[in-house]
Amino acid sequence: MKPSHQIRTLFDENQIARRNQEMAQAIVAASSPDLLVVAVLKGSFMFAADLIRALHRVDAAPQVEFIHLSSYGTGTVSSGQVTVLRDIESEVVGRDVLLVDDILESGRTLSFAKDLLMARGARRVLVAVLLEKKSRRAVQIEADFVGFTCPDMFVVGYGMDVAHSFRQLPFVGVVAHGAAEPDLFDDRTR
Ligand code: IMP
Ligand code: MG
Repeated sequence: MKPSHQIRTLFDENQIARRNQEMAQAIVAASSPDLLVVAVLKGSFMFAADLIRALHRVDAAPQVEFIHLSSYGTGTVSSGQVTVLRDIESEVVGRDVLLVDDILESGRTLSFAKDLLMARGARRVLVAVLLEKKSRRAVQIEADFVGFTCPDMFVVGYGMDVAHSFRQLPFVGVVAHGAAEPDLFDDRTR
């Protein structure tokens, strides 16, 4: 396991907590009371856990589900082929759904998930992401709620990984040059 001192912090714990609470307020204002939150595994697990508790603090009582999607790619670039590894169990017909993910990058993952849920009859699919990399978009999709704009760098922590390392960090950071073995960036499931 790589020690956390090799990570340069981009967004610290306090910044993230404050932003999560602001996002929760905006989400409650924009959605219906019977909201279904769908967290996109794996990268969103920590953000989703905090965002859900932030929603509770503003008196929301969403149902919570999980979908495990993977995009396979070489190195740190996703190929765009999205696969459902584990699906949600709930019916979404006529419901407001909030997709929660860690990063909106090419947009392929969230676009796939949004299309899937809309095709199943969701009334509305909103999207909340912790981070948005604006310059990397390959498909047309906008997030309704964005935590932070992310510089065009590969980030880790707060659920996000390189080959399953660094997810445990309570903040978002960048792996310092030379801190990670090159093979960490080989093909992987995100
Ligand atoms: P997209 O389909 O290209 O939008 O890819 C988004 C997914 O790629 C996110 O859900 C993350 O799991 C992963 N991802 C994109 N950029 C990063 C990064 O900088 N660090 C870790 N994972 C990333
Ligand atoms: Mg992901």
